Order: sequence, then C-alpha cells, then structure tokens
Amino acid sequence: MSSTNLDSAMRMRTVRTVSELRAALEPARRDGLTIGLVPTMGALHEGHLSLIRTAHEQCDRVVVSLFVNPVQFNERTDLERYPRRERRDTDLAAAAGADLLFAPSVEEVYPRGFATAVEVFGLTERLEGEARGAEHFRGVATVVTKLLCMAMPDVAYFGQKDAQQVVVIRRLAEDLNLPVRIAALPTVREHDGLAMSSRNSLLSPAERARALALPAALRAAGDLAATGERSSGALLAAARGELSRSGVEAEYVALVNPDTLEPLESLAGEALLAIAARVGAVRLIDNTVLSAQPTGEDPQQPKREAITLCSV
Ligand code: PAF
Repeated sequence: MSSTNLDSAMRMRTVRTVSELRAALEPARRDGLTIGLVPTMGALHEGHLSLIRTAHEQCDRVVVSLFVNPVQFNERTDLERYPRRERRDTDLAAAAGADLLFAPSVEEVYPRGFATAVEVFGLTERLEGEARGAEHFRGVATVVTKLLCMAMPDVAYFGQKDAQQVVVIRRLAEDLNLPVRIAALPTVREHDGLAMSSRNSLLSPAERARALALPAALRAAGDLAATGERSSGALLAAARGELSRSGVEAEYVALVNPDTLEPLESLAGEALLAIAARVGAVRLIDNTVLSAQPTGEDPQQPKREAITLCSV
C-alpha cells in the first residue's frame, strides 16, 4: 500500500453493526452534512470506484457498504464463487474517498426471525427477473431498502450496467417515500470495451477474449441503428449475430423501454438494449441506450443519464 493509501485507509473506519453505523453517521447528520451511500457486494473494481469518487465529490460523507447478499443469488455456486476480498476492498474504498465502510454479517442484516421482503411488481418479471427468478429482485429490493433505512443517505449511487436494477430501485424509493436521490452512473469499461464486473475475474483468458462479444453485440446494433434501421427484429438479430459468431450463448437480448422495460417493436426515441450471456460458467450482462435520434441532433432536448456505448 502506498503512503497515500495508508493515510486514507487510516481515516476510513469499518463498522459491522447498524448501531455502529448510525452512531458513526450521527455527528454528520446533526451538522446537516450530506451523506452518500455506495452499496456494493465487494470485489471492487473501477466501476465501483467511480461511484465512490463521484459520491466523494458530491457528498460531505461517503459510506460504502460491503455485503454479499445471499438472498439475491439464484444459484448456490454463483454465491459460493463470488469473489470476497475485504482487505483489498477496504484499501480501494478508502483511497477512492470513502469515510466509512459498513461490512455487516449475514446475521446482522437478516437476524433470526427476519420475515419481511420488498417486492417491486411489473418491473421485475422480465429480463433478469425472468432469467434469474423472482427471488433475485426480491433479494435486491429487500437488501437495498434495508441499506437505505440503515444508513439514511441523501444520495445512493448505482452503476448503470445493472440498468434494470436501477429502474427497480428508483421505483421502490419512490413508492416507499424514501427520502433519497438515486443516482445512476455510466458503465465503466475495460480498455477493450468489456464492461467492468466483479465476475470478470472468474473468466479464463480464452473466455475473457470471447466475452468481448457482448460489447461487440451492443455496438453492432448501435451501428445498425445509426444507419436508420428501426426494426427491433433487425437490431436484435445484429446483436445476436455477434454473440453467436463468438460462440457465446445468449440468455436474452432485448430491446425495451428504458423506464417501463416493456419490449419494443421498433426504435422510436430511446430504447434500452440489454444482453445477458454465459461465457463458460460465468454469466455476464451489459446494455446500452439506443437512440432513434442521432446524438447532438437536438441540443435543446434533455438527455437521459448516459449509458456509454462501448468505445472499442
Ligand atoms: O449491484 C450490486 O452489487 C447489488 O445488487 C447491490 C445493489 C449491492 C445489492 O446487493
């Protein structure tokens, strides 16, 4: 660890219980300072660090939560294989500007007798919900609601790579009148376009190369849309073609309304193109927003929070 990292690690505290978390945040709250929360399951990568850095720029105090939430995993092996690197995560979070790391145990989050779930209807049945089962988003919605209630942040930061998760969390925060702003930041990509993911470290070198089919598929559909193609069938076929050329098995490739997640017949306005695929045993997701209107055509129009198209 460099001396700068050592300094920041020493400034950042790790707390493991809700009462410690609340006590640690109490002075900031009393002084009217703003609190940002970055919920994570650890195995931090540049995507998480960009959320922490932005939270650090925008808020007076930054809490990073590190909790591998067992109830959102639909596959036991995925939960078991999920990378756990708390020591490394602590250093990275501190260096990126976190003031507090909240790393509770499973028993702290789900104590004996725990019997409540948060379910967001309508937005969770498709895409990831269909592929991973209802328990996935029930688990995400429940733990995120709990983390928001535990830390009571002014702003909570999420990555747009999990686009459906962002839509679901925005809905639950609004429906439950939670006094928090949900901020979604653009997907951070490796130099060659692969979306950063904690699961990337599980790919073999050959699988890592094949995984580039996901950003290539997004780009193929984006390039076709830029030529004026508007049919959902043609855009999806272009994306699927890239995946199958690399022998990557798609779980779904879908063009949906970015707010309602309803499937679209054609591209009009903005559409979310979302992909889930297996590369070997590793399940990856990626997405981009396609626009029927070439970028910059109408600078008067407010633009949706950017999801960066791969820059390969
Ligand atoms: O995106 C994630 O890492 C998780 O789904 C989250 C939001 C931390 C909830 O466990």
